[in-house]
Amino acid sequence: MNTQAQVSGLTRAATPMGTTEGYMPGFGNDFETEVLPGALPQGMNSPQKCNYGLYGEQLSGTAFTDVRPERTWCYRIRPSVKHSNRYRRVELPYFRSAPDIHPEVTSLGQYRWDPVPHTDAPLTWLTGMRTMTTAGDVNTQVGMAAHVYLVTETMQDAYFYSADSEMLVVPQEGQLRFATELGIIDLEPKEIAILPRGLLYRVEVLDGPARGFVCENYGQKFELPGRGPIGANCMANPRDFKTPVAAFEDREVPSTVTVKWCGQFHETQIGQSPLDVVAWHGNYAPCKYDLRNYCPVGAILFDHPDPSIFTVLTAPSGQPGTANIDFVLFRERWMVAEDTFRPPWYHKNIMSELMGNIYGQYDAKPQGFVPGGISLHNMMLPHGPDRDAFEKASNANLGPDKLDNTMSFMFETRFPQHLTRFAGTEAPLQDDYIDCWKDIEKKFDGTPGRK
Ligand SMILES: [Fe+2]
Repeated sequence: MNTQAQVSGLTRAATPMGTTEGYMPGFGNDFETEVLPGALPQGMNSPQKCNYGLYGEQLSGTAFTDVRPERTWCYRIRPSVKHSNRYRRVELPYFRSAPDIHPEVTSLGQYRWDPVPHTDAPLTWLTGMRTMTTAGDVNTQVGMAAHVYLVTETMQDAYFYSADSEMLVVPQEGQLRFATELGIIDLEPKEIAILPRGLLYRVEVLDGPARGFVCENYGQKFELPGRGPIGANCMANPRDFKTPVAAFEDREVPSTVTVKWCGQFHETQIGQSPLDVVAWHGNYAPCKYDLRNYCPVGAILFDHPDPSIFTVLTAPSGQPGTANIDFVLFRERWMVAEDTFRPPWYHKNIMSELMGNIYGQYDAKPQGFVPGGISLHNMMLPHGPDRDAFEKASNANLGPDKLDNTMSFMFETRFPQHLTRFAGTEAPLQDDYIDCWKDIEKKFDGTPGRK
């Protein structure tokens, strides 16, 4: 074991040898961690008196009766009722929730945006959240929202939790620290983090300005996809997900907690930091994952499989095989298929697809889809390669070809995505995006064998 450490004023537990310092490996494991020796009760959850005078408290991410309970027992300086006072409604006009439908905004269309630019305004994780699309309904816990965050400022004595959603964070620029009730996650581009519903945290800027994407999942939690015939190896491996060890601070200063609840925001004032969990155990916890560990599987003789082959995480809906959200990664890989049109084919999809570029160039759109940029191909709207991508791929010499310097992702949902007013009227929409298909030629003239 190495020793405990001070991080941002929080005292963090020692880390077992053989793992990344500050984290525990595994996806959805039944973890246990304590900062102070003996703080975690052994063999039971609710002793008559907890060690160190701590309070026992359960955070439940599933109904008590769920067949696969997800819950975490926390042993903390104060119970969370002390971190909650009377609430006052506050407005965060750019942080939207579904349904958020505006008659003056047309969601029907193929859309692409340049990166949402930084401004001179100091922005925190909350004030810097810019919602691009919403889908489903936050009140019935179905659907999602896609956000861009622009963060320049650390939350000072300020904390947040979303009762509405699990947050999947995909950084594109800068480094953030999520100091959560259950431990500390440092996050940079090429990594992702999952922050469970109800988990309280503050967001600090380690290297700013920071920009990235958030998929706010109103529904069932993200899980690893079923691998079927692929078997136990490749794609995202459970051991590469990292859950933080416990960390707490005992700091008595006036503090603000903001809660997102049914699409509304409320503030409450408290007298101390709520990051006071000294020990915890359970399977409901935040984690991060390095996308460079994702091992893509693809066609190795001919043809082009569905993009679902690149699913990193899936959030189920009530219908088996039809996700509330799939998180899909398009990263560096070898293309080797023979006699095959290798980029994504033209298609229409019942699912709606929001893509973001983390870095590099995307093979179906060599121009215009830049790092930080976003595209949206909504439910049953046709899309596919632009003319240049089509011509190049149709005439390429099909030797082994490495797609290098590329990392894009997709938030794909079974629900249509509605543009927010920000996405439709303020964000840097590329008005000419749809023109990328206008030069596609008619090649057919009835001649057999013509290609
Ligand atoms: Fe698509």
